[in-house]
Amino acid sequence: MNKVKITDTSLRDGHQSLWATRMSTEDMLPILETLDQVGYNSLEVWGGATFDVCLRFLDEDPWQRLKIIRQTVKQTKLQMLVRGQSLVGYAHYPDDVAEKFIDKAADNGIDIFRMFDALNDIRNLETCMKAVKKNGKHAQPCVVYTISPMHSLEHFLETAMRLQDMGADSICVKDMAGLLAPYASYELIKTLKDNLQVPVQLHTHYIGGLAIATLLKAAEAGVDVVDTASVPMAFGSSQPPVETVVRALQDSERDTGLNLHKLFEIANYFEEMRKKKGFSRGVTSINDMQVFEHQIPGGMLSNFISQLKEQNAVDRINEVLAEIPKVREDLGYPPLVTPTSQILGIQAVLNVLMGERYKLCPTEVKDYVRGQYGRPPLPVKEEIRRKIIGNEEVITVRPADFLEPLWEKAKAESAVWAKNDEDVLTYALFPQVAAKFFEKRANNKLGENTERKVSDEAADKTVKQFKVSEPAKKTVSRGDDDMNINDIKELIAALDKSNVNELEMQRKDYKLALRKGISASTGTVSNKTPGEDITAGQSNTENADDDFGLYEVVSPMVGTFYAAPAPDADQFVHAGDRVRVGQTLCILEAMKLMNEIKADTEGVVADVLVKNAEAVEYGQVLFLIKKD
Ligand code: CO
Repeated sequence: MNKVKITDTSLRDGHQSLWATRMSTEDMLPILETLDQVGYNSLEVWGGATFDVCLRFLDEDPWQRLKIIRQTVKQTKLQMLVRGQSLVGYAHYPDDVAEKFIDKAADNGIDIFRMFDALNDIRNLETCMKAVKKNGKHAQPCVVYTISPMHSLEHFLETAMRLQDMGADSICVKDMAGLLAPYASYELIKTLKDNLQVPVQLHTHYIGGLAIATLLKAAEAGVDVVDTASVPMAFGSSQPPVETVVRALQDSERDTGLNLHKLFEIANYFEEMRKKKGFSRGVTSINDMQVFEHQIPGGMLSNFISQLKEQNAVDRINEVLAEIPKVREDLGYPPLVTPTSQILGIQAVLNVLMGERYKLCPTEVKDYVRGQYGRPPLPVKEEIRRKIIGNEEVITVRPADFLEPLWEKAKAESAVWAKNDEDVLTYALFPQVAAKFFEKRANNKLGENTERKVSDEAADKTVKQFKVSEPAKKTVSRGDDDMNINDIKELIAALDKSNVNELEMQRKDYKLALRKGISASTGTVSNKTPGEDITAGQSNTENADDDFGLYEVVSPMVGTFYAAPAPDADQFVHAGDRVRVGQTLCILEAMKLMNEIKADTEGVVADVLVKNAEAVEYGQVLFLIKKD
């Protein structure tokens, strides 16, 4: 057998998994040449969260980063991660933008495009695959690995064969949650190698601690390429360390042939940088090691804990953990990766906190059930679908078929700032963030250093003048593409600009109304605020009649109250309005998602006890309704 080839993920997944993607181009620059000399199969340097984080937090133009890396890395292939039709964002983009994005990424130096869809719905990869092939670049679609009764060896093989038929130049097994155990890895890779003509690459995460063994068994089974990171960016929720894998395969028939001295030179560079910037090392917690029992990726678990803390209900974590597999089953066993991990996670938390399953469903869950993310591995259970979206139609075509072209519109809207097509793309992907970035750039205010402007010609000179950016905020460590709270905020922001549906429109309306200072009818804040003493019980959070024959609608969670417009008026629901069963009374923003609170009784609103945009407690009375 040939030597195992290695892709280095340090400049993308490595720091995305451990350092919230906060490594700057300046941090990377001094080590690029050395990385180029190692003889890696490829360097994964772009895509995933790097694009967004460059603009939003690092005041960097992601396209400039790519250009700079390409200028320095002359021999090794550059690789990026594409979230299928969501590209480097969180919602599907129209085909014209997807095509243009791939064209420009290719122009600026990407050789290998790794593409995945969270649902393994390969229709969501079609447009990008075609564009990659058209550019004569390497198309590497992923088989997303997960464990469920329907994710059999046959299913993975069938998916891989279809991807090969679509023109894949290689296939990546993407195990974002670190669930691929060593012997399962052997079976899977062997099956793929026996049946596919194209090379097979394995991407896994260390999380529970099995990844090195998993890679070794994959090597035995004939895997062509494996992903690793330099040791300061390895372990924990990141990849296994290259140094260990190279050493483990040394003198075997699959020896990687990589020079360990060179690898340690690189590791020392990153280690110094890590210390200087206060970035943390990858560690494996007991919870992470239990990933094989609950199957919940590390980052997702930390998110649950912080969400439940926010809800004063952290003691209910075990109920939530038990609820996750049930929700996953109900919703057709989606793999837990962005954005499905967030969608499922929030629903599980709500099911537990509400005391009734699917009583409250965020827009994202409804959209998922409507088929707007693609086709789940199995159909959503009939009765669950009806409970979540009633008789609404489920789309069966590729979701992006519904999206209007966006390129020309984005070009027109960004004309004041955009200097080239890359700028237009940046705007098309993240309009608000891009606008802010362009404004700063125009006013020479990127970062604190006015010399930060990077021009093509002077790129590597000016980059050296960059000021050291602020150390990354401490964030929960997480698996690849598992979101943390900030990501969920970003998701909301991304959804804000997407067309999606009427609920989105409503959400925009609330925010608009809030900005204009229109507030809901207000009353005195109930003195029945329960506070912490009721955190565990459900009885106090159930809507009920009070002592005066008024029906109390209480807040099922800690959050922010947004008044909802009355159905036949421009006004918000206020005292004196008649409400019907199922009518939206208000929106509660909790756990970074918008949740509709609906009337479960008919009657006349006697009082609204909360002001618009006010924080509410778990169990706090929001409305009093006089029943008929
Ligand atoms: Co990953």
